[in-house]
Amino acid sequence: MVQFDTSDQRLAALVTDCLAVGLFEDDGLTDAAQTIDAAAGGLLRKLKGAGDLPARAGETQMLLAPAGIKARRLLVVGLGKRADFRERGWRRAVSAALGACLKTRSARLALAIDPPQTDPVDAYYRGRAIADLTGAALYRVNDFKTARKPPRPALQRVTLSGMAADERRAAGRGLDHGQAIAAGQTLLRDLGNLPGNVCTPRYLARQAMDLARENRALKVRVLDEPAIKRLKMGCLLSVSRGSDEPPRFIVLEYRGGARNAKPVALVGKGVTFDTGGISLKDPGAMDEMKYDMCGAGSVLATMLVAALLKLRINLVGLVAAVENMPGSRATKPGDVVTSAAGKSVEILNTDAEGRLILCDALHYARRFEPDALIDVATLTGACVVALGHHHTGIMGNDEALARELVQAGARASDRGWHLPLTEEYAEQLRSNFADLANVGGRDGGAITAAAFLGRFTTGMKWAHLDIAGTAWTSGQQKGGTGRPVPLLADFLIHRAGAHKG
Ligand code: BES
Ligand code: MN
Ligand code: ZN
Repeated sequence: MVQFDTSDQRLAALVTDCLAVGLFEDDGLTDAAQTIDAAAGGLLRKLKGAGDLPARAGETQMLLAPAGIKARRLLVVGLGKRADFRERGWRRAVSAALGACLKTRSARLALAIDPPQTDPVDAYYRGRAIADLTGAALYRVNDFKTARKPPRPALQRVTLSGMAADERRAAGRGLDHGQAIAAGQTLLRDLGNLPGNVCTPRYLARQAMDLARENRALKVRVLDEPAIKRLKMGCLLSVSRGSDEPPRFIVLEYRGGARNAKPVALVGKGVTFDTGGISLKDPGAMDEMKYDMCGAGSVLATMLVAALLKLRINLVGLVAAVENMPGSRATKPGDVVTSAAGKSVEILNTDAEGRLILCDALHYARRFEPDALIDVATLTGACVVALGHHHTGIMGNDEALARELVQAGARASDRGWHLPLTEEYAEQLRSNFADLANVGGRDGGAITAAAFLGRFTTGMKWAHLDIAGTAWTSGQQKGGTGRPVPLLADFLIHRAGAHKG
């Protein structure tokens, strides 16, 4: 476990194993670099003049035991050109510093890399970013490799230094919050990375029960197949029919707010593997459909963050967990089923299964009379086409709630983009044989999926997060990202007023 703290000590006097300082490519020294340079007899200026220091964004160089300063190592981190230096560049520089420090046996790291003055990051968010990025730098993929694991990193303490005395309280709060968010992201990444033969609906349910056992503030109830049948969740059951894995419906509650305060309800898509069902997917990259439970993982992880931070807010987390398989009893294209809300649905494509499990979960949320209802789902490939891998798609029926989520994402560097869910889109879901069809054609696919959900959320303030493009990365660095836990946590922290302490 890494400990965090802040410091307003003079940099030259700071006793640490590794002191990280930023350096611009094109400009004079930063304030922090100047202080160190002065104490170290002009060392940085000399090396920079000789072209011996890295300055391009993300480059680093370790200087051992420089005379005149107390730190045992001085880590110079390139910041690129001053004019191009934005918040994102600052976060990258901090990550680069963490990465370089973790390659050494340094137990204590002090970070003296200031965010850009033109794109300021207040003390609270600085603290949060440091803790968050440290969590990411320390994360190791939960693989099943049999070779001996590399030794634990030496890092034990990270200090945010160069803070003004009046900023240290806020920064300290940010560090605390960032650690909780990092713990949530780690949980989500681990759950997502697990293969489908391990992370099944029953596994997710056990995880929820473990969470509740470890955090007394969380209450859990797991509904099995008979209980789900009693709730008449015909859409959810139509997805799990084709699999031998039984479905689970998980209800988590966290009560940190006033007794009668209406809760925020989070609903997660927990398809532990999505083959597409009878509308079978192409084999290319089908393995990535083990990540189709990342909405569910986000809900569990966000509940954990709320509990760790003891947020003064009431929360309900609902997870619909199923496996989508083409078994002999699987739902067939053209089948008509009845949702818990009583609406009939013609299933034209069994690969549009997320909305089927979510519509029953969203209906279940009604009994909690939520103040805000937010579902999280790896719902559509179309959202990836629309927004790529940078923004989570945000849709819904309440402008203010969508705006609140967009703002939370921007503050947390976990951004979302509001897509227009106007009433025309629902017209694409007309069916000749049922109240609605589960697909509405290729065009605007991310929004027609949301429009389907919107038919089940009338009268509630609802938002939908499509995380298909942001929940994991493909290719060489395949793995869960931990998104959108920072966005959701920020949303809740602000609702609870906890950022102000
Ligand atoms: N889980 C997928 C969405 C998905 C696909 C996420 C690829 C990330 C990457 C979802 O269940 C799905 O299959 N959606 C279909 C909907 C279509 C049949 C209307 C899709 O996006 O192709
Ligand atoms: Mn699918
Ligand atoms: Zn899916």
